[in-house]
Amino acid sequence: MLSIVTLISGRGSNFETIVKIAQKEQWPVKFAGVIANHSAAKGLEFACSQGIPAYAIEHKGYPNRESFDGALIQKIDALGADLVVLAGFMRILTPGFIRHFEGRLINIHPALLPAFPGLHTHERALEAGVKEHGATVHFVTEGVDEGPIICQASVSVLAGDDPDSLAARVLKAEHQIYPFAIKWFLDGRLRIEGNHVKLQPPESQFFKL
Ligand code: GRF
Repeated sequence: MLSIVTLISGRGSNFETIVKIAQKEQWPVKFAGVIANHSAAKGLEFACSQGIPAYAIEHKGYPNRESFDGALIQKIDALGADLVVLAGFMRILTPGFIRHFEGRLINIHPALLPAFPGLHTHERALEAGVKEHGATVHFVTEGVDEGPIICQASVSVLAGDDPDSLAARVLKAEHQIYPFAIKWFLDGRLRIEGNHVKLQPPESQFFKL
């Protein structure tokens, strides 16, 4: 049985959705732990309610990114992670961390990458006047919000949207695609070929929601 360790910074709704779907569909997976970089992260409470080991490693307690990431690596390795899931983890990770977990570190980003990497994606999408926006699950490489794309979901931008209404529509899409991507990984269906992720056997990796 493979083990997942999830990193969060706040609410943890993606994490919660993934755990609930895994329970409902009885995935053969162990949620070995959740780590937040703030002890106040709401997602830690849900983890505790499910008996999932929950840890806070406060980034403020470390003098630099390397030492914080070193502590994370130690904890994640001790938990025996086969897959590390970034779910709203709001820290830039060091190249050393990313190399350590290469090929088993995935992230969800609230935009259709490569459009709108970084923060404030919904505001920027509205400002740019795009008619479609969405979410991307990708393997993590050293560039911020780069890396081979596992799947994407798009949603329409509606007249009258504000950043909150658009964020809520995108979040629903996130909750739909992150479990798919993780299940594909667990089932050994993902092959990274250069900057592409091939799903075997093939199936659409794009969802219009
Ligand atoms: C999500 O929009 C995710 O894409 C972004 O941060 C948000 C986290 O939400 N990186 P939650 O903590 O999963 O509710």
